[in-house]
Amino acid sequence: MELFNLIKDLPEEKNLVTRTRSYFNHSIEFKGIFTPGERAKMLESVGLNVFFFPSEMITGCDLLSDSGTTTMTNEQWAALHLGDEAYGSNKGYFLLMEQIRKTFGEGFSNSPASRRPNAFIFHQGRPSEDALFTTLGKLGSNLIIPSNGHFDTTQANIEANKLQAQNLFSSELKDKNSDSHFKGNMDTSKFEELLEKSHNEIPLAYLTITNNTGGGQPVSMKNIKDVSELSHNYNVPLFFDACRFSENAWFIKNYEEGYKNKDIESIVKEMFSYVDGFTISFKKDGLTNMGGGLFLKDNGLFIKRYPEIPEALTNYQIIKEGHPTYGGLSGRDIMALSVGLKTVTKEEYMNHRINQVQEFGETMHKQGIPVLTPIGGHAVYLDVNKFFVDTVMKPEDFGGIAFTAVLLAVYGHRACELGYFAFGSYDKNTKKETFPEVNFVRFAVPRLRYEKQDLDSVAESVKILYENRHKIPPVNVTYGRDISLRHFKARFEFKN
Ligand code: F0G
Repeated sequence: MELFNLIKDLPEEKNLVTRTRSYFNHSIEFKGIFTPGERAKMLESVGLNVFFFPSEMITGCDLLSDSGTTTMTNEQWAALHLGDEAYGSNKGYFLLMEQIRKTFGEGFSNSPASRRPNAFIFHQGRPSEDALFTTLGKLGSNLIIPSNGHFDTTQANIEANKLQAQNLFSSELKDKNSDSHFKGNMDTSKFEELLEKSHNEIPLAYLTITNNTGGGQPVSMKNIKDVSELSHNYNVPLFFDACRFSENAWFIKNYEEGYKNKDIESIVKEMFSYVDGFTISFKKDGLTNMGGGLFLKDNGLFIKRYPEIPEALTNYQIIKEGHPTYGGLSGRDIMALSVGLKTVTKEEYMNHRINQVQEFGETMHKQGIPVLTPIGGHAVYLDVNKFFVDTVMKPEDFGGIAFTAVLLAVYGHRACELGYFAFGSYDKNTKKETFPEVNFVRFAVPRLRYEKQDLDSVAESVKILYENRHKIPPVNVTYGRDISLRHFKARFEFKN
């Protein structure tokens, strides 16, 4: 007691400027030692395409993706050992279904006795999307899937199935002076116009939470509600691309009126009460290295409108992935996933997660580096056009590609161009490039992997490159300018 009397006048722990992380290291790995010269040589040999650069040679931070790159918790590693590798109805499957009900709501998971399946697990996000769009593609031609921003592979899966992907980005996302906290929203007036004109051609609408293509920006509960009401008025089911659902809920809690005192779990439940289904890559907010799924709400508009689709999806799953009770995942992956889903909505995890990404972005922003603000949930996005605005870099010089190559060679950090090259296209016949609306380089922060010091080093490196932006040479595309999904495969060289 005496001790407490003595210290009661000291500043409280919660008021410390520097707080400890909400976790400690469990297992670590030393990185390799490579010189800038060695990295430059390797990069040149892979045609400056950072996807082909051996990760072992990355001496800085690997911010290529936040997907499947999470560090798992002790509980997950322990659960992995309890994996049941039975071919049918493994133990983890039932735990996972229970967790899906707890996290997203009762309607989204198969009850053990259900004859009509509504939960389909897959080995990652894109096969879930392909399953959905393959079945929808058979409903007719020229069907449209509107979204607040389709991710690149989602759009590719839609188009591969002869459907049209349409992005209805919010006006705030394009407004450089906007400080809206929910730039990931869908533009509801454009959506209403589209519904009015073409609702018969829309088998479902999509909201990507958070909006990865749109700067990793969150979607407000109000926007979710409004989009749901609009689409349901026209008998159009609404789906989430739910990869970063918990990060999105954190933003609602912290920036939307009326949610401050609610916990993330209940915000997630409310978000999912407005949709009829969702696809998800668990490699993000599942906190796992593998996993995905497609979930249809029992008695939701989608199942009502397409009662035959669950059967078609089960057939797809069996042909392409395996029995619905393992869906292309090993039993141990399923165990790690059910534990990851419990952790991801915990406040102590999510506060750390978003604060880390925000601090990283703010450090760059304060130094005058043109990053998209406010900072999103999983990544910091560098505005390539602003970065090179006073240089000779032209759009067809692909400054974003040049920047990522120089950053990796000189400072050992890997980032990803998601802009004019990734989302643009080239017509061989007219020799014309079509440029997308946004031109970013993305620094995606893997979950629970790096510390402040690591990300500070990235910010410092970017600052030096910004100060020396005139020296970054433009690139030529030496292979793959006119191919689909070109950023994954193309090769480049620096122009002399
Ligand atoms: N939807 C979104 C919004 C995504 O960000 C991703 C993947 C997917 C779907 C596909 O999931 O990779 O499991 O097949 N995004 C990763 C990224 C690859 O780096 O942003 P997947």
